[in-house]
Amino acid sequence: MTNQIKNVAVIMDGNGRWAKKKGLPRTAGHLQGTKNIRNITIAANDLGIKSLTLYAFSTENWKREQSEVEYIMKLPAQFLDDYLEELIENNVVIKLIGERDRLPEYTRKPIEEAEARTAHNNGIILNLCLNYGGQREIVLAVKQMIADGVKEEEVTEDLFASYLMAANCNPIDLLIRTSGEQRISNFLLWQIAYSELYFTDKLWPDFTAEDFKEAILNFDKRERRFGGR
Ligand code: IPE
Ligand code: IPE
Ligand code: MG
Repeated sequence: MTNQIKNVAVIMDGNGRWAKKKGLPRTAGHLQGTKNIRNITIAANDLGIKSLTLYAFSTENWKREQSEVEYIMKLPAQFLDDYLEELIENNVVIKLIGERDRLPEYTRKPIEEAEARTAHNNGIILNLCLNYGGQREIVLAVKQMIADGVKEEEVTEDLFASYLMAANCNPIDLLIRTSGEQRISNFLLWQIAYSELYFTDKLWPDFTAEDFKEAILNFDKRERRFGGR
């Protein structure tokens, strides 16, 4: 490979449309989409990618119907019940990114237990972004810098980045969005400054390990310039 690829992020979109196409309730799409996280994580780990950062629930997704939100919030526990042992065998490190306070305990606790159990692994870092918003992340970083008494002359790009919740995936090399939408929807804002963007019409539950590899191959052909030439 010519381009170094370390950090990949995915906006896992299209669960609702996947279900609708099949005449199923939206929740069925979320269940299938959640199962797919296992496949793509294993594929990314096998490719030697350092971090995989997945947008699972945004700060705006609370606006959805309560029953849908409740269903989504139960999925992390189920996902970890089904796949945590296998992910541990694959040396995956699990991390939760997002404002934790608003997450129900039945969502937060199993992920925090998985964080503790996988902290010493040395495989891919799987960042699960739940109740995450890029703008919120920036505001929280600024608040914390002020609380820490950081002085104006001490503020640099590196220091600021270190205050971000999603510091461990900075910078994102490749951002993938499924489902045909071509927007960022308040996902990682700072971290995607020079990301390559990859959009596919595939709906997230249909997005396979092969599709993921195709995105990586496509990334490999890009000429990254970072403002130089
Ligand atoms: C992505 O799928 C999952 C979440 C945002 C939680 P959607 O639920 O947004 O699916 P579409 O966009 O309605 O198809
Ligand atoms: C982005 O998808 C959030 C996640 C995939 C978790 P949305 O479906 O919420 O985004 P919009 O509403 O199409 O911008
Ligand atoms: Mg959507």
